Amino acid sequence: MENFIIRPERPEDYGETENLIREAFWNVYRPGCSEHYVMHVLRDDPAFVGELDFVMEQDGRLIGQNMFMRTVINADDGRDIPVLTMGPICITPAKKRRGYGKKLLDFCLEKAAALGFGAVLFEGNIGFYGKCGFDYARRFGIRYHDLPEGADDSFFLCRELIPGWLHGITGVYQTPKGYYVDDADVEAFDRRFPPKEKKKLPGQLFD
Ligand SMILES: CC(C)(COP(=O)(O)OP(=O)(O)OC[C@H]1O[C@@H](n2cnc3c(N)ncnc32)[C@H](O)[C@@H]1OP(=O)(O)O)[C@@H](O)C(=O)NCCC(=O)NCCS
Repeated sequence: MENFIIRPERPEDYGETENLIREAFWNVYRPGCSEHYVMHVLRDDPAFVGELDFVMEQDGRLIGQNMFMRTVINADDGRDIPVLTMGPICITPAKKRRGYGKKLLDFCLEKAAALGFGAVLFEGNIGFYGKCGFDYARRFGIRYHDLPEGADDSFFLCRELIPGWLHGITGVYQTPKGYYVDDADVEAFDRRFPPKEKKKLPGQLFD
């Protein structure tokens, strides 16, 4: 792990960033992936946090990226509590599990805290995010939208950036609408990239 920088994403990076995301997510959670298209559309979403759109660069190439969106927790007392959600985040496949992801995420969370955001919630694997201070969101009293009572919610994670931001709050987290993309739009967008084989693999979450 050496000579990398983390810097804001620039418009001239967009194509390279989307290709990086496609390479990192391809066949991981489903055959193919949609995250490169999600990134493509979310940059124009009003909830997108431009100040927290970062890439990791090494030897003139992008090896990682992360971004954030504004959303809310619909609190049981009627308030809407502003929070962040995050991702896609990725590290290029050849550099995974060498500590780059943690460096990138720690950097981004520090920037988010410095901007005054109170908490970050999203879906992820506690094995990685636990290393960056995340815990199960249920421990903060926050429920995932549309999840049946008693269903496994261990994918739903939270970290306060301002200690106590969620103290005394219970409620339901909402995924920003922009994340819900149409499969046909993903397919059409994907044709801009070199052909890549979709595979059904063990461990994928979706068909
Ligand atoms: C997830 C991702 C961003 C993590 O970045 P990374 O550089 O590979 O992770 P790091 O090397 O910094 O990991 C730090 C620690 O987190 C843990 N960790 C990392 N990835 C993990 C995984 N998939 N499952 C469980 N624990 C994991 C490990 O303990 C790791 O330390 P170790 O390798 O010494 O055991 C990267 O692997 C990636 O791009 N994956 C594909 C896309 C993706 O799944 N993005 C996240 C969607 S929620």
